Amino acid sequence: MRKNSLNEETFQMLKEKMEEGLLPQWVITDPDIYELEVEKIFGRTWQFLAHESELKEPGSYVTRWMVNDPVLLVKNKEGEFKAYLNSCTHRGTQLCTADRGNKKAFTCPYHGWSYNLDGDLIGIVAGNKVYGEEMCKAEWGLRPIPQIGIYQGMIFGNLDPDAMPLEDYLGDMKWYFDILLGRGDGGMEVRGVPQRWVAKANWKATAENFAADPYHVQTTHRSTVEMGISPEDPLYAGYGHQVVLGNGHGINVITSATGRSKNPFQGTPESMWPMFERNLSPEQLEILSKTTVFVGGAYPNLSFVSPIHGTEGHLHNYLNFRLWRPLGPDKVEVWCWFMIDKAAPEEYKEAAYKGYLGSFGPSGTLEQDDTETWARIVEVSKGLMARDKELSYNSVSNYLMGFNRVEPDQSFPGPGAAYPTTYIDALSRSMHEYWLELISKDLLVKEEV
Ligand code: FES
Ligand SMILES: [Fe+2]
Repeated sequence: MRKNSLNEETFQMLKEKMEEGLLPQWVITDPDIYELEVEKIFGRTWQFLAHESELKEPGSYVTRWMVNDPVLLVKNKEGEFKAYLNSCTHRGTQLCTADRGNKKAFTCPYHGWSYNLDGDLIGIVAGNKVYGEEMCKAEWGLRPIPQIGIYQGMIFGNLDPDAMPLEDYLGDMKWYFDILLGRGDGGMEVRGVPQRWVAKANWKATAENFAADPYHVQTTHRSTVEMGISPEDPLYAGYGHQVVLGNGHGINVITSATGRSKNPFQGTPESMWPMFERNLSPEQLEILSKTTVFVGGAYPNLSFVSPIHGTEGHLHNYLNFRLWRPLGPDKVEVWCWFMIDKAAPEEYKEAAYKGYLGSFGPSGTLEQDDTETWARIVEVSKGLMARDKELSYNSVSNYLMGFNRVEPDQSFPGPGAAYPTTYIDALSRSMHEYWLELISKDLLVKEEV
């Protein structure tokens, strides 16, 4: 492996800057930082693969990526989810090249080896004639992804066999996932297929923008104010709480200025409310009843937004999950899922899907605003001044909003450190602190020894 230029002093300097609420700009697109991120963050943390509603029948499969590792996720005959490296054990080519489908077996397009849903090698072209009787097929099954875990229908994978269990990793995020994903009978379902597109952006910037930065909304998405969709009040996306949950996870629980929502339960049809009451605790229900928008993220690269869209009398709510798959320090592949309450009326689901396509889908107005900004962050971070690791030009980003000034609200009914505004950099700082902890981990361990 190429020697990484980053050392103890670098990490010490980053730590000190972050303790001042600052993040040096060079870390955005630095190739050595990126290499560490792939290995120490994406190689060791839980990454989202699919929602179980995407694999309904035995034999259903989807192909996904954990950064550069291709994953084949299948539902076997027993209804269990299995994840394998999507690579043939003969010469390593990609085994399944389709995005999704239903199969009893997978046959490699190169020399025709085939595997069943449990990953066993079951067929070799001209088998015994070319390999002899002694070929032990059991040794040549697909390589499983070391760990998979499921929470509220969300299937995650982990490339580290020693990583902590998914539920421990999610921690208090689970309590909020219960509201977002478990509020309805039967949970949520994915409608359509995840849309995908490539954006010029760094994954840290996209994850932070989505999960932790409601402050950008009133400026970047100013057109929605001009169209009369969003209020004039510059604080409108700042009412509510930003909740920091540990391990880089967090959520913004956005309300109206009064702390309540004009449209209880995110404008969902009243017929659905008793169902929410059945499935949620009183504290979760209280939060859901008051919230306009939930927006947040599960570290490292899964973000979500659950907004209200539409006009009075035609309001709808949906859940959009998105994964920022890094394709390099300056490029991401965006994966975008539309999810809706399984138990919602069909016409409602349809109207919500249209609302999603017009806002956060790849051609949606909000999406395009963000994409331009992300590309410009990447451009600037490549300049000589931004790349200067000595910081002689003071090229640092500002994370000082609410820094050492705003304290968590102890009366908030949910777990986590809940700051009484979403215009605050508490979650961004927590994400970057966890980022530094992960990428510098072995170095610190070595020091202790
Ligand atoms: S690479 Fe798959 S059969 Fe040869
Ligand atoms: Fe945005």
